[in-house]
Amino acid sequence: MLELNIQSKEHDEARQGEALLLKNDLSTNDSRKLYIESYGCQMNFADSEIVASILFDYGFETTGTFNDADVIFINTCSIRENAEQRVRKRLTDFKTAKSQNPGMIIGVLGCMAERLKSKFLEEEKLVDLVVGPDAYRDLPNLIAKVEEGSREVNVLLSREETYADISPVRLNSNGITAFISIMRGCDNMCSFCVVPFTRGRERSRSAESIVQEARDLFEAGYREVTLLGQNVDSYKYKADGKENEAVITFADLLAMVADVDPLLRVRFSTSHPKDLTDDVLYTIAKYPNICNNIHLPIQSGSSRVLDLMNRTYTREWYIDRINAIRRIVPNCGISTDIISGFCTETEQDHEDTLSIMDLVQYDYAYMFTYSERPGTLAAKRLEDDVSEEVKKRRLTEIVSKQRGYSLKRLENQLGKTHKVLIEGFSKRSDQDFCGRNDQNSMVVFPVVDSYKIGDYVTVLGETCTSATLIGKIIE
Ligand code: 5AD
Ligand code: SF4
Repeated sequence: MLELNIQSKEHDEARQGEALLLKNDLSTNDSRKLYIESYGCQMNFADSEIVASILFDYGFETTGTFNDADVIFINTCSIRENAEQRVRKRLTDFKTAKSQNPGMIIGVLGCMAERLKSKFLEEEKLVDLVVGPDAYRDLPNLIAKVEEGSREVNVLLSREETYADISPVRLNSNGITAFISIMRGCDNMCSFCVVPFTRGRERSRSAESIVQEARDLFEAGYREVTLLGQNVDSYKYKADGKENEAVITFADLLAMVADVDPLLRVRFSTSHPKDLTDDVLYTIAKYPNICNNIHLPIQSGSSRVLDLMNRTYTREWYIDRINAIRRIVPNCGISTDIISGFCTETEQDHEDTLSIMDLVQYDYAYMFTYSERPGTLAAKRLEDDVSEEVKKRRLTEIVSKQRGYSLKRLENQLGKTHKVLIEGFSKRSDQDFCGRNDQNSMVVFPVVDSYKIGDYVTVLGETCTSATLIGKIIE
């Protein structure tokens, strides 16, 4: 099973499975210690911050070493089989720690917990606690029960839960950029996807609580928020008892968050081609602080395959949306997700995917081979009939094409100036700052003493690698 991404930012491979810590932990010696790590999408990372907030209220602190933890939580992903295998393997690493400290509680959270439910307890003797994405408020209670000697499962999905009132603590934060979850679940039923089963029905969080969270972050020094949802374009919210007020759409919400302060950058992910409206594009164009960057998964360039995937748009519709982006938000960064080797995919279908890549010339892409997931529509109705070998060969062609376009898109940015928010020091050297431009490209440039992390600077792009623009501050 291959999984590749080039220049990925939303799904940062480096963050998968790292220990999530609260900086400046106000812990005391008698605090209980939580070790938490996350896999999968940014939504899962945002959820870990909600989980940590709930446990902090019950006297926990975070630890970076699982050996001395009282509770180990692993927040899991089910999107592809290899994501689940990774978690299974990781669980074996906790075995020795638990045998040395039998009181230690090991909990599995997130999508895999939801998918496997109590089966998890049967299959993995090590695990004490299985908790789905809508049941995190119950964690303190479940932990108390496990401490009394039972093993617990809560995988109830909810139609209402948005954790709107929980103000998440920020884990492993750079103090500058943060995620805000604006909705949960998904109603799309793409035939390959397990998410509707693991995260339940789509629901939008109250607009006031989102704007308040953005405001709090800005006041705490943050300068960029990314609004997260499986399908942000279908965000809609109407406060209870306000029948006469209009529904707040995603375009409205974007404007409300952008209005918090011109110095607060706003990003969002993920957009669905069927729902991306011109209204949203005009809002992006209107506000200089809404970043010109759209993640618009295509999945396949063949209308026949898109139909089998139940994506509810055609190749032509997708191209129309791309044209609208190019027209209304010129110079917008566009990224995508592509699956190779979905059920019945022919060489011609694959050629259609390659040709749409030539047409759009994506800035970056997440590219995967199809992995059948139990319980999905495709698993029930379609045969996974493309051999692993063919899936991989097609993926390699897709990846190599994308590599060319990622480089080309960066080369186009050379000799131009970019507004960059300084996020920190570059990975390689503390003589260099790093940050991203409007289009979400990573930019690295030498430190100039008069600027600090959190400032906006104008950087001239001078050279690039396939993933990073390198330049110097000119203002
Ligand atoms: N197999 C391979 N890739 C998948 N994705 C979702 N489900 C599967 C699957 N069963 C990909 C899609 C989606 C991204 C988050 O993961 O491209 O947009
Ligand atoms: Fe995120 Fe989907 Fe993985 Fe769940 S299955 S963690 S929603 S990518």
